[in-house]
Amino acid sequence: MLSARNTIRSARLYSTASKTLRIGLIPGDGIGREVIPTGRQILEAVSSKHGLKFEFVELQAGFEHFKKTGTALPDETVEILKKETDGALFGAVSSPTTKVAGYSSPIVALRKKLGLYANVRPVKSVEGVGRPVDMVIVRENTEDLYVKEEKLIENPDGTKTAEAIKRISEYASKRIGKIALDIALQRQAQRDLGAASLHKSPIVTITHKSNVLSVSDGLFRETIRNFYNANQDKYSSISLQEQIVDSMVYRMFREPEIFDVVVAPNLYGDILSDGAAALVGSLGVVPSANVGDDYVIGEPCHGSAPDIEGKGIANPIATIRSTALMLEFMGHAEPAADIYTAVDANLKEDAIKTPDLGGKSSTQEVVADIIRRL
Ligand code: NAI
Ligand code: MG
Repeated sequence: MLSARNTIRSARLYSTASKTLRIGLIPGDGIGREVIPTGRQILEAVSSKHGLKFEFVELQAGFEHFKKTGTALPDETVEILKKETDGALFGAVSSPTTKVAGYSSPIVALRKKLGLYANVRPVKSVEGVGRPVDMVIVRENTEDLYVKEEKLIENPDGTKTAEAIKRISEYASKRIGKIALDIALQRQAQRDLGAASLHKSPIVTITHKSNVLSVSDGLFRETIRNFYNANQDKYSSISLQEQIVDSMVYRMFREPEIFDVVVAPNLYGDILSDGAAALVGSLGVVPSANVGDDYVIGEPCHGSAPDIEGKGIANPIATIRSTALMLEFMGHAEPAADIYTAVDANLKEDAIKTPDLGGKSSTQEVVADIIRRL
């Protein structure tokens, strides 16, 4: 059962006692609408074997919804998620690159409204396929430059200057540091039980730029170090390391196999994880979970991919792995493990792959192949 599991098995952050699980589905825009249904298909496929029942509730959010109604994240979506669901899957939204009055990215808002302070992004290569990578990027999800407090100042000479707040708090740095350290211990516990891994002992790498941003990134770095030092009874087996973010990019491409758990402020974590996706072949295979103390939203790392929208060729694996991650964080490690195994089996064979991985298959052909292997 415990072979090459991706991540954080036994991450039972909270329990879902009832066997009927209500899952919110928020497809959003673009290929979000093509991949989120595949998460549902996978849950339906694993349900009976594991004695689980799923109910689904479709919810609105996104730029298309904003264009129709003037709101990108309806209150109803947030209320139903909070009151009526056990977890959720989010696809992607098409956030415009220029400012649109009244619009703001709904996933950024949702992470804040539901207290989903950690974005956990496992990036793992399948044994024998591509470069060896076995890391989890733990991205702070609530602050940094993503507080979006920007302003435009008119200078006396008629030109403009833009300013943005980069907020780093001790509170948020400590809780992201804690979850990164805990994930490192959980990964080690899996390895101790025989899980295949590139690592022998747990390592947590803090990524920052505190050589320049000594106050803000300095606080991030120092808070995590202090927390680690103050809790040596628990964390002494972990090697706590650090890497300045620009050389982190370099080392991640040169020697990705050395990284185990990487903890980063919001923006660096966002950028590093798309880079890490290139190491394992495609953004279309990298999952994430937005995690809080009592709720989780699975979300593929990729965006709405307008360049392939409507062609039926979006890779569903990022979403399918996000579905497994969601289950893990809900305390259902076994169906999650089955899903990872089926996905790995699909990736090991060259037969049925979407074009981003060099194949010719459609989204639905890949899903069917994974379900067949479950
Ligand atoms: P993107 O992630 O949508 O696409 C980047 C490249 O990866 C494209 O060539 C795309 O075809 C490919 N790709 C992504 N997912 C794929 C999949 N499942 N299968 C096959 N190929 C895949 O990033 P981009 O193009 O920068 O952004 C497009 C839109 O998505 C923008 O409006 C952006 O704001 C939004 N976005 C939304 C996110 C979210 O909702 N969490 C995250 C990132 C971007
Ligand atoms: Mg991103």
